[in-house]
Amino acid sequence: MSMIDLRSDTVTLPTPEMRGAIFQADLGDDVFAEDPTVNRLEAVAANLLGMEAALLVVSGTMGNLTCVLAHCARGEEVILGDRSHIFLNEAGGMSALGGVFPHIIPNQPDGTMRLKEIEAAVRTENIHFPHTRLICLENTHNRCYGAALTAEYTAAVVSTAKKRGISVHLDGSRIFNAAVALGVDVRELARGADSVNICLSKGLAAPVGSVICGSREFIGRARRIRKMLGGGMRQAGIIAAAGIVALEGMVDRLAEDHRNARRLAEGIAGIRGLSTEPDRVCTNILYIDLTDRRFSDEEFLERLEKRGVRVSHTGPSRFRMLTHHGIGVPEIDAAIAALRSVLQE
Ligand SMILES: Cc1ncc(COP(=O)(O)O)c(C=O)c1O
Repeated sequence: MSMIDLRSDTVTLPTPEMRGAIFQADLGDDVFAEDPTVNRLEAVAANLLGMEAALLVVSGTMGNLTCVLAHCARGEEVILGDRSHIFLNEAGGMSALGGVFPHIIPNQPDGTMRLKEIEAAVRTENIHFPHTRLICLENTHNRCYGAALTAEYTAAVVSTAKKRGISVHLDGSRIFNAAVALGVDVRELARGADSVNICLSKGLAAPVGSVICGSREFIGRARRIRKMLGGGMRQAGIIAAAGIVALEGMVDRLAEDHRNARRLAEGIAGIRGLSTEPDRVCTNILYIDLTDRRFSDEEFLERLEKRGVRVSHTGPSRFRMLTHHGIGVPEIDAAIAALRSVLQE
């Protein structure tokens, strides 16, 4: 039985075109900035995002950490959402490795943080306070049902930040999902941010890698930090080759993942014992709650897996599903049938 793996869009495998590009890639030593394929990927990414320069990193986590460390010195403060991936799922790297202090404010269900709350969180000059250096946004917002932040919202945060002399970092791991869902150029969503982290290995299906984008000066500093973190890779064109295919050929098809996520949510909404909110699904992420008290969360996962479906457990009675390349309408319908069968047991 082949598994329908809805745990994450990171489980996607490279396409045959990516494998071909990897095989053919021109290579060099990227620590000397001499890998032509990496240089091309970085140019493609910077151009797509409307930024001066870009840098390939190993993962989204390394991309976010590199950016935070390039923006902030020890003891400085970052404002970020209480549901953000950087806060919840990146092992506290900014504090552990950078001595950077997180200042958490609530994420609203649409992935935003209220402007008034951001403004109130910015420290005034006082010897008791750390200096606020950075605001982090996440688009799409993983824990908020894959919500897409609009260009207008990002512009408003950027304007608030600029007034107080603070930088903005955008965790745009799924920013192409946001651009496709909102029907806008990804540049609009990145405009004004001082750094953006985009992932190649999620919905875009490349095997490894993220790219951070920013000004030439910022990327120069980030390059040094990437080296410090052990992220200076040598013939990384092997990775970059698939990344170029991802950026040039895999963005438009994300719309299919979004339609499938909606179909999945609508199918699940009709199953007794489960609840979800189909109207909140605008990209490729949805959450379901197990309301049937007959099963523990572990039993539910086990029974579902026996029927060929994997989802991820994100909290008591709560599970996350992501649609992605390789999951089509037949897999969606089979997953709905498997869920129904578990609940009817
Ligand atoms: C919003 C967001 N940011 C960052 C990351 C980290 O990416 P990686 O797993 O490549 O470190 C993830 C991973 O799923 C994510 O969802």
